Amino acid sequence: MRQQYRHDVLVIGSGAAGLSLALRLADHARIALISKGSLTEGATLYAQGGISVVLDKSDSFSSHIEDTLTAGAGLCDEKIAAYCVEHARNGIQWLIDKGVPFTREAGVIGNSDYHLTREGGHSHRRIIHAADATGRAVEKTLEQQAREHPGIDIFEYHLAIDLITGHKLGHDHNHCSGAYIFDIEQQTVHSFSAQMVTLATGGAGKVYLYTSNPDVATGDGIAMAWRAGCRVANMEFIQFHPTCLYHPNAKSFLISEAVRGEGGRLLLPDGTPFMSQFDTRGELAPRDIVARAIDHEMKRLGAECVYLDISHKPASYIKEHFPTIHDRCLQFGFDMTREPIPVVPAAHYLCGGVMTDIHGKTDIPGLYAVGEMAYTGLHGANRIASNSLLECLVFAEAAYYDILENLGKFGESEDIPSWDESQVTDSDEEVVVSHNWNELRHFMWDYVGIVRTNKRLQRALRRSDLLKQEIEDYYGNFRVTNDLIELRNLALVAELIIRSAMERKESRGLHYTLDYPQLDDSQKPRITVLTPDNFQSTQASLPRRTRNRRKLS
Ligand code: FAD
Ligand code: SIN
Repeated sequence: MRQQYRHDVLVIGSGAAGLSLALRLADHARIALISKGSLTEGATLYAQGGISVVLDKSDSFSSHIEDTLTAGAGLCDEKIAAYCVEHARNGIQWLIDKGVPFTREAGVIGNSDYHLTREGGHSHRRIIHAADATGRAVEKTLEQQAREHPGIDIFEYHLAIDLITGHKLGHDHNHCSGAYIFDIEQQTVHSFSAQMVTLATGGAGKVYLYTSNPDVATGDGIAMAWRAGCRVANMEFIQFHPTCLYHPNAKSFLISEAVRGEGGRLLLPDGTPFMSQFDTRGELAPRDIVARAIDHEMKRLGAECVYLDISHKPASYIKEHFPTIHDRCLQFGFDMTREPIPVVPAAHYLCGGVMTDIHGKTDIPGLYAVGEMAYTGLHGANRIASNSLLECLVFAEAAYYDILENLGKFGESEDIPSWDESQVTDSDEEVVVSHNWNELRHFMWDYVGIVRTNKRLQRALRRSDLLKQEIEDYYGNFRVTNDLIELRNLALVAELIIRSAMERKESRGLHYTLDYPQLDDSQKPRITVLTPDNFQSTQASLPRRTRNRRKLS
C-alpha cells in the first residue's frame, strides 16, 4: 500500500557520503535513509586502495593540494582542493572514532602509526587504508552505527524516482520537499516528504559496458537533480581505471593502484615493461596516462589484455598487503605471488556531476548533493587516486553544518500528492528495457570511451536520441519497474556525457579526442556546464506521467 512518510531530512544513498551525513545529523533531526539495494551495496563497499590524508611528517597540505591540481589538469577549483585537503584529518579522525580499523604499522611512517601506502600521482605516501578493503571497513562500520541509531529510519530496497519541488507543487518557491520512492519488494511508490533532501547516490559506471562499479551505479541522483532543474558540470571526464582483472567471470574486479604503488609492473603479453615509454613516472603516472598507454598497446598489438606483475615481492608481503585481491585472483586461477595477472582498463569514476557549492548545496533550495554524484570542483579534469572517499567525508561534514543551521527555517515537512498511476498499464514487452540497456552500454564503450573522435560522439548522440525517445514513450505508458527507472536515468546521464564531451574542443585530463589531441592553452581553462533550461532535447520529450503530475498543481 502507498505510504506518506514525513521526516526532517531525507538522505538518498547509503555509501560513505550518505551514511556519514545521516550519522552526523541523526543526533539533531529525524532522518530517512534510503538505499535502493541492501544498506551496504554501493561503490564504497568495494573501495580498495584507501583515503588520502596528510599524516607523514615529510608530507604537507601544499604538496597534497599540488598533486591534486596537477592531476586535475588545470580544472580543479583551488579553494575547494585546499578546503578538502585541510579538512581530511578531521574526516579520518571521525572514522577512527567510529571504529574503522585502519592498518597500523607502528613507527614505520614518520610520526603516524598508521601504514600509509602510495598511489599514482601522489608525491608522498599518504593513503591510509584497511589492508586492500578500505571501503568495506568504512561501510560496515558506519552501517552498524546507522542501524543502531534511533534517529535514523532505514529504507532498504527503496529506489528514488524523482524529486518533489515547490514548482511541481504549484508554489512560487522551488524548495525541494521530498521524493517519490519505489518500494521494490512491495512494487509500489511511496511519497517521502522532508524539510531538506540530500542526494548521495554515487556514480554512473553502469553507463559503460565494462566498469569496476557495482550494479547500483546508474547515475540516478544526477538524472533526478537534472530533471528537477540543477546544472551539471564536467560530465565528459570519465575516469577509466587502468587495471581490472581480465576474466570473463570477474565482472571487472578491480586490482588496486596500490599494487603498482608497492612495486607492481605493467607488462606486454611477451613480458616487456612499457610504461616508461609513456611517462617518466612509469607505473605511478596518473590513471589517465596509464589507462591510455594500456589502451594504445592493446590496440597496437591486437592484445586482449596486458599483465600486472608483483611476483618479485615476497609472497608473505603480497598476502599481507593485498589479501582480498590475492584471494579473488586465486578464485580465477591466478596466483599473483608467482605470476603476472591479466588486466584491462574499465570505467571507474565520474569526475563531473551535479554542481554544488562548498556546503553541498545545489541550485535548488533545500536540495544538497554529496559524494561521487556531486561536482564540487575538487577533481578537475582527472581525479587523483583516493581523493574520492575523502571528498565524501569532507563534504558530508560541510553539508551537515549547513543543514543543521537551516533546520526549521523552511517549516515542517509538508504532505505531497500520491504517485499517480491512473494513466499507465503493466508493460507488454520487458525486452525493450533489457535490449536498450545493453545497446546503451555498448555504444558508450565503443564511441565515448578512453579515446574519442567527433564522428564517434555524433554517432553516439544519434543513438542516444533514439533510445531516449523510446524509453520516454515506454516510461509514459507503463508502470515503473526498477530496471525501467534505472534505464531512464542511464540514458539521460549518457546524453549528458556525450553532449559535454562534444563541447570540449581539446584534449585535457580524462577527455582525449583524436580530433583535438592537444591541450588548448590559448585561453583560460573552462569547466563544461550544462543547464536544463538550454537543453532542447531533454525539454522536448517530457513523458505523459510527468505531464500528468503537473496537473496536480
Ligand atoms: P556509493 O558508495 O556508490 O553509494 C551510493 C548509494 O546510493 C548506494 O547506497 C545506492 O544504493 C544508493 N542509490 C543510488 N541510486 C539510488 C536511488 N535511485 N534510490 C535510492 N538509493 C540509491 N575511492 C577512493 O577514494 N579510494 C579507493 O580506494 C577507491 N577504490 C575504489 C574501488 C572500486 C572498485 C570502486 C568502484 C570505486 C573506488 N573508489 C575509491 C571510488 C569511491 O569508492 C566512490 O567514489 C565512493 O565510494 C562513492 O561514495 P558515495 O557515497 O558517493 O556512493
Ligand atoms: C584503487 O585502489 O586503485 C582505487 C583507488 C581510487 O579509485 O581512488
